[in-house]
Amino acid sequence: MAATIFDESCRACPRLATFLDDVNGRYPDYYCKPVPPFGAPDARLLIVGLAPGMHGANRTGRPFTGDHAGVLLYQMLHKYGFGSRDHSESADDALELIDCRITNAVKCLPPDNKPVGAEINTCNAFLANELRLLPKGAVVVALGGIAHRAIVKAMGLRQVEYRFGHASLHALGAFQVLDSYHCSRYNTNTGRLTEAMFDGIFAQARELLDK
Ligand code: URA
Repeated sequence: MAATIFDESCRACPRLATFLDDVNGRYPDYYCKPVPPFGAPDARLLIVGLAPGMHGANRTGRPFTGDHAGVLLYQMLHKYGFGSRDHSESADDALELIDCRITNAVKCLPPDNKPVGAEINTCNAFLANELRLLPKGAVVVALGGIAHRAIVKAMGLRQVEYRFGHASLHALGAFQVLDSYHCSRYNTNTGRLTEAMFDGIFAQARELLDK
């Protein structure tokens, strides 16, 4: 694959491409394409999520926009100076990210929110190219174990040497990866990820970048 960070017309994963066609048939107003990263490529904070949610990013065309998973994320970004407002409604609202970018390990909506290994691997080339654009000293927040492992793989590193753990910090060459449990509805409703825990992640990211 060429050194591109995103391809709106990508249909490299047959299961995902077929699923998007199917969802588009059922929801003709939805975006239903690979969802592009949001924010400037040279931002020093990169958030890596899992994949677009059916009625969120897959509907609006912007990561974490329009569903539960984005509510707390955009609040935190605003609180720590990475967003111009505390919520994200649609791809053409007035929100601007400040020194921050949001991407997903898998750019297309997966059935049941679960991409399979081959899909994560196929999409990994985009993530690898995106990570190469990071400025020195950048901080990457990995939302969940899948995003974390996709980052380690994209950097060509051994998973056993970089284990996922909430609030774990890993030095990966020119940047650091800060792990967080994913801000999914399931994790926030069950208390696996509390607001205080998520706040701590962004407080730490801010501190690392301000050093
Ligand atoms: N929306 C996204 O864009 N990514 C996620 O990981 C979850 C919801």
